[in-house]
This record gives sequence, C-alpha cells and structure tokens, in this order.
Amino acid sequence: MSGESLASAAALLRAGEPVAFPTETVYGLGANALDAGACRRIFAVKGRPADNPLIVHIAGMERLRDVCAVWPPEARLLAVRFWPGPLTLVLPRQKGVPPEVTGGLDTVGVRMPDHPLALALIRTAGLPLAAPSANLSGKPSPTTADHVWRDLQGRIPLIMDGGPCRVGLESTVLDLTAGSPVILRPGGVTKEELEQALGKAVMTADEAGESAPKAPGMKYRHYAPQGRVMPISADSAAAGRQIAEQLRTVRPGERVALLATDETLAGLDAAQRARLTPVFSLGGARRPAQAAARLFTGLRLADESRAGLILVQETEDSGVGSAFMNRLRKAARG
Ligand code: TXA
Ligand code: MG
Repeated sequence: MSGESLASAAALLRAGEPVAFPTETVYGLGANALDAGACRRIFAVKGRPADNPLIVHIAGMERLRDVCAVWPPEARLLAVRFWPGPLTLVLPRQKGVPPEVTGGLDTVGVRMPDHPLALALIRTAGLPLAAPSANLSGKPSPTTADHVWRDLQGRIPLIMDGGPCRVGLESTVLDLTAGSPVILRPGGVTKEELEQALGKAVMTADEAGESAPKAPGMKYRHYAPQGRVMPISADSAAAGRQIAEQLRTVRPGERVALLATDETLAGLDAAQRARLTPVFSLGGARRPAQAAARLFTGLRLADESRAGLILVQETEDSGVGSAFMNRLRKAARG
C-alpha cells in the first residue's frame, strides 16, 4: 500500500467514513472511535445489533488515556507482554468514548493490532479506531480482502488489502473489570499464555458461570454458514469412518463439504473425493494454529458451493485449539 492510499484512507476516517483494514486476526471495519455518528455507520453497514460493543484499536500506549478510565497493573503487564497482538482488554471506559462504541456499557474493549497496515492507518489518521470484524452480521469473519469485498461491496468507500490474516480467528477478549480476569472470548492469545503471564488461574466465561459478565456479542448467531455444520473426530481414522457414514446416509443430491487435516484427506478414496465439494485442507494434524487460520475461508467456500452438510474436523480443545473449537461449536449450533 502506497503512502498516498494510506493518506486517503486516513482522510476518509477523519471525515467520519468507515474503512475496512487488515489485522493479524481478521479484517476490521474501522471508524473514528470518538465520533458517535461514524460509529453508527458501522452498525448500519454490518446490520449489527446496537447493544453489541465495538473494540477500540490503538497504535501506541499514549492513546490509552482517551479510551480507558483506569489502567491497572495487570492490564499494563498484559499489554507489555502481548501487544501488539490478538488480545482485547475490557476496562472501565473513558467518558469521551461514545455509548455507540460500548453498547451502552461502562466498559470498553481495547487492543493494539499486530499488523503493519493497521498500525500505520491508526497512526496516520491520528485516531483510535472502533472496529468490529468487517463481515455482514452473522457471516464468518473475513480473513482476506476478498471476503470483505463479497460482504460489503458498495456499502463502504474503501477496503485496504493486506493479504490473508495470520491468526484467522478473532482476538481473545479478557475482562479485567471483575474481581479476577475472565476470558469472554477465546482467541489467538491462549488461556495458558495468560495464566503464565499473570502467574494465576484465568477463568473462561463458562467456568465463571452465570454471574459473570459475558461479551454481549457472544449471544448472537455467529460464524454460521448456510449449510449444517457437523464436527467430526480429531482422530484421522475415526474421522474417516464418520465421513464414510455421512456419505452413505446423506439425502440424495445434497452436497457435502469437508474441512479436514491433510492426514484425513490423504485417507479418502477417489469415489469419496468425487462426492465432496469442496475438499478443503485445515493443514497438518496437531497444528491447530493452521486450522484456526483456515477455518473461516473453508466455511465460506462450503457456502459458495451450496453444501447442505459441512463436515469439519475438530482439533484439541486447548491452546489456540480452544479458539478453533469455540468457533466450530458456534458454527455447528447456528
Ligand atoms: O480480532 C478482533 O477482535 C477483531 C479485529 C477487527 O480486531 N474484531 C472483532 O470485533 O472481532 P467484533 O466486534 O466482531 O467482536 C468484538 C467482541 C464481541 O463479542 C463484543 O461483544 C466483545 O468483543 N466486546 C467488545 N467490547 C466489550 C465490552 N466492553 N465488554 C464485553 N465485551 C465486549
Ligand atoms: Mg464479529
């Protein structure tokens, strides 16, 4: 991206327009976080419910005082360790952050993305950027500029192309406003990494139970393709049996998509391959980071091929595998 296009993207943002930009997690749809009208545009473009708050993106620590009212030692420690990176911290909000950004809450989510274009855009605009994922509400988050274009063409003035996103799933959202830290959404920074950095146990929202605050966004239908998603075993041999079983029992004429590891794909015979469309690789077995980076592309391809049934191979449910499994379960629930 040339300096000129960066300057025009920044000018659009300063004029209150939304701009799609790459981050290391997924593409974001950014607007000036301190401008209520600009933020309302984001909700209109995406068809997003107004009570689902936006994450504020910054490029330097000096901006924090515009966004959060307090900056506790734990936040500082985590920011030093994981920023720029896929970790969103939920903290008490500064008065200047409009309710449009926070969904009317007294808290705000903030993160520093680890992508040179995102950081350059935020710096050039000189603004904190409120940005949800740049998909239509209810679609999988976009991990390429093409995904954004397919969802939002004609609705926004500019899409910046930074290539495919490295992480491919949205950031970890960590609430620091309760007594102890709670993971509201698992993501690229793992529970294990957070526990190691903080030197204490970190709960997930499920473990914290009903009394715990939830990320409002987690209650909405999410990451859901048109087809029915069926998780299959992480074990290649077991997965192979499940694939054969589904191909035997599926309604005649119904298209079946498969997202699985290279090991599982290698076990398919020619007749099975001919019945499956697409046959999409999630990368090597026991490489959950690869599976995470590819999941949303695979789900979108399955939809494009109008698959009625989408078989998706599970990963381990720890480390970055937890984020993969969280999105897979949501996609399967619809
Ligand atoms: O990786 C990401 O986080 C991407 C990129 C663009 O940065 N953004 C993203 O935004 O995934 P979005 O809007 O699709 O998801 C934001 C999530 C939602 O589940 C929302 O409810 C939660 O973060 N969230 C934001 N602010 C919050 C707050 N103050 N309290 C609790 N949850 C919050
Ligand atoms: Mg989203």
